[in-house]
Amino acid sequence: MNVLSVASEIYPLVKTGGLADVAGALPLALEEHGVRTRTLVPSYPAVMAAVKHATPCHAFDDLLGEPATLLRVEHHGLDLLILDAPALFDRPGGPYAGPDGLDHPDNWRRFAALSRAGAEIALGALDGWRPDLVHLHDWQTGLLPAYLRYAERPAPPSLMTIHNIAFQGRYGVDIFPHLGLPPDAYAIDGVEYYGGVGYLKAGLQAATAISTVSPTYAEEILTPEFGMGLEGVLAARAGDLHGIVNGIDTRVWDPEHDPLIAATYGPSKLKRRRENKNAVAERFGLEQDDGPLFCVVSRLTWQKGMDLLAEVTDEIVAQGGRLAVLGAGDAALENSFHAAARRHPGRVATHTGYDEPLSHLMQAGSDAILIPSRFEPCGLTQLYGLRYGCIPVVARTGGLNDTVIDASPAALAARAATGVSFSPATTHALQRAINRTFRLYREPKTWAEMQKQGMKTDVSWAKSASLYARLYSSMTMKGR
Ligand code: ADP
Ligand code: GLC
Repeated sequence: MNVLSVASEIYPLVKTGGLADVAGALPLALEEHGVRTRTLVPSYPAVMAAVKHATPCHAFDDLLGEPATLLRVEHHGLDLLILDAPALFDRPGGPYAGPDGLDHPDNWRRFAALSRAGAEIALGALDGWRPDLVHLHDWQTGLLPAYLRYAERPAPPSLMTIHNIAFQGRYGVDIFPHLGLPPDAYAIDGVEYYGGVGYLKAGLQAATAISTVSPTYAEEILTPEFGMGLEGVLAARAGDLHGIVNGIDTRVWDPEHDPLIAATYGPSKLKRRRENKNAVAERFGLEQDDGPLFCVVSRLTWQKGMDLLAEVTDEIVAQGGRLAVLGAGDAALENSFHAAARRHPGRVATHTGYDEPLSHLMQAGSDAILIPSRFEPCGLTQLYGLRYGCIPVVARTGGLNDTVIDASPAALAARAATGVSFSPATTHALQRAINRTFRLYREPKTWAEMQKQGMKTDVSWAKSASLYARLYSSMTMKGR
C-alpha cells in the first residue's frame, strides 16, 4: 500500500514536539506491514540545510498564488517530498513562529498551501505514483480532506490524526476567498467554525476517519472538558474515531547503545545509571548525594501542569530531593523555575532551551521524570522514562493513563507497577504522588523492580504500527 503522510514537522529535520517524533518514526515502523510512505513536509531552512541532492519531481504554477516546486529525497530511511515554496517557508525562526516568538501572520496561507499540495498529490499530480490513502497530522493539514472532498476527481481515503486539540488553526472569514475552495465549503459541515474558518474542524469534518494518539484521549475529547469546542463535531463522528497509542523509536532511544549518555546500561546493569546521574548533576550544577533526582523535559506550559510543579519545588527540596528542569515556553513559568533555582542553589536547576542530547542524558541519569499534565493526548517522555529506568510520575490522563501502571499495593504485589500516577491534576495530588515516590525510592528493591518492569514494557511502535496498518486497510477496502 502507498501512503502519503503530510506533516508540518518531522524528526530528525525539524521538531517542536512529539508530532515530529511520530511523523518520523511511524513510516519506518509501517514498512514491515507492506506500507510504503512518502512524507510531504515544508521547505523550512532547517530542512533544506539538512537535505542535499533533492530532485525536483513536480512544479505547481499557482499554489494559492505562489509558484512552488516539489522535491523528492531520501533521508534517514524516510522517503520525503519537500514543498519548496521560498516565499512561504524560507524565513528565520521555527516552523510556526518568527525569532520574536510571534506566529507568522501568514500561517493560514502557509499551511493551506501545504494542504493544497498534498491534495494535488493525492489526486494524482505525480507521474507514476499515487497514494492509496492520505494520513494527515494536526490542524496544519486540516484543509487537505476539504480539498479532496470538493475535488472533481476521485480521491483516496484520508485519516486525520489529532495530536493536540488545543491547537485548532482558527482564522477569520476574510481568508476564505483565498483558499481556492468552492463557496459551499463555507458551511457548518465544511470549513466554517464559529463564524470563521477552522482548519482542524475542516479536517475532522471531511476526513474519512479520525484517530488520536491514545485510547483514553479518544474518549476524553468527546467531553466538553477536553474537546475544546470540538466535542460536538467529534461526537457526530464517534463511529469513525480511533485511539492508537504512540510508540517510540527504540533505536534512537536505547540505553544499551545510546551515544548521548555518559554510561550505557541495561536492566541487569542498573548501577551504571549512577554515572549518568552524576553527569546530570554536574551539567546542572547540582550537589551530588544519594537522594532522588527528579527531572522535567517539557514544553513549559499550562497543558503540562508546570505551574503545579513550580508550587511544589520547595517541598521536593525539603524532603531531600533535587530537581533538574529542561524546557522552554511561557515566560512566567520559565521565571518561576529560575526563582526556585535561586532559592535552592545546588538543589534545583533549570536549563531554558531545547536540547535533544541533554534530554537523553536526563532520562538516563534521573531517578524520576515528573509529568503533571492537565491533558496529554499521548506523551512521549514517559515512554522514554520507562525505557531508561527513569520512573514516570504522571497525571492520570490521556496517554499517560494508558502507558504507566501506578504503584498501587496490588500492582506492586503483582510486580506490574511501572510508575506513579495521580488524579486530579492539582498541586495537592501532585504533592501526594511525590511523597509516595520518595517512600518508594527509600525501598531500593521495590524501586529497582519498578525500573526493570518499565524497561521490559514494550514501548516500541510494533503493536501500534500493526493497528495503523489494519486501520489503513479497512479504510481502503471500504472505498472499493
Ligand atoms: P508535546 O508534543 O506535547 O510537547 P510529547 O511528550 O509528546 O509532548 O513530546 C515532546 C517531545 O519533545 C519529546 O521527544 C521530548 O523529549 C521533547 N522535548 C520537549 N521539550 C524539550 C526540551 N526542552 N529539550 C529537548 N527535548 C524536549
Ligand atoms: C502532541 C501531544 C502529545 C503527543 C504528541 C505526539 O503534541 O501534546 O501528548 O504525544 O502530540 O502525538
